[in-house]
Amino acid sequence: MSGLFITLEGPEGAGKSTNREYLAEHLRAAGLDVVLTREPGGTPLAERIRELLLAPSDEKMDADTELLLVFAARAQHLAEVIRPALARGAVVLCDRFTDATYAYQGGGRGLSLERIAMLESFVQGDLRPDLTLVFDLPVEIGLSRAAARGRLDRFEQEGQAFFEAVRQAYLARAKAAPQQYRLIDAALPLAQVQQSLGALLPQILERCRG
Ligand code: TMP
Repeated sequence: MSGLFITLEGPEGAGKSTNREYLAEHLRAAGLDVVLTREPGGTPLAERIRELLLAPSDEKMDADTELLLVFAARAQHLAEVIRPALARGAVVLCDRFTDATYAYQGGGRGLSLERIAMLESFVQGDLRPDLTLVFDLPVEIGLSRAAARGRLDRFEQEGQAFFEAVRQAYLARAKAAPQQYRLIDAALPLAQVQQSLGALLPQILERCRG
């Protein structure tokens, strides 16, 4: 038995968490075993690495350090949560995964995509998400939603150009592999976003049962 690995991606303020709950509720109602998790994090140790990544600090974090921490957290998360859940046939709904690394460390920080791909193979082997939902949002809207939530983390303190590069990296990845990605317009009202998610549910259920 093997489960289904679904990731949710997009900038801060795109409504990923709310929409992840919405999907989980519908998939559970259909009788599926659903695991909700997130990156960086998802296990106690990986959540400690998340704290290191998000906390603003006087010492500037080197971009390579950031990249390695993200993959260190991912290795732990895969071993403890994701692989066991998929092995027992669960649907894993993960708030961010390696697409975020391509977008933030690749697009935002400008690190080499080849190097990210090397770490991706090292840490994941051939495991890739079955489906990735990209919640796309104009940068200004995302930043103002994040600011309204209160104190900004180390990533949220980045400027417009960083987030523009993040957005373009997500869009490029979605365009390059349309069979894996679904682009969702997260600027629409929540009810409409959930309507487009609802339209995806039959496909998801079919893949789980197939
Ligand atoms: P969030 O999950 O609350 O949105 O915050 C996680 C932050 O971590 C977000 O700003 C994106 C960043 N991040 C990366 O830079 N690379 C990654 O691979 C992941 C998973 C997240």
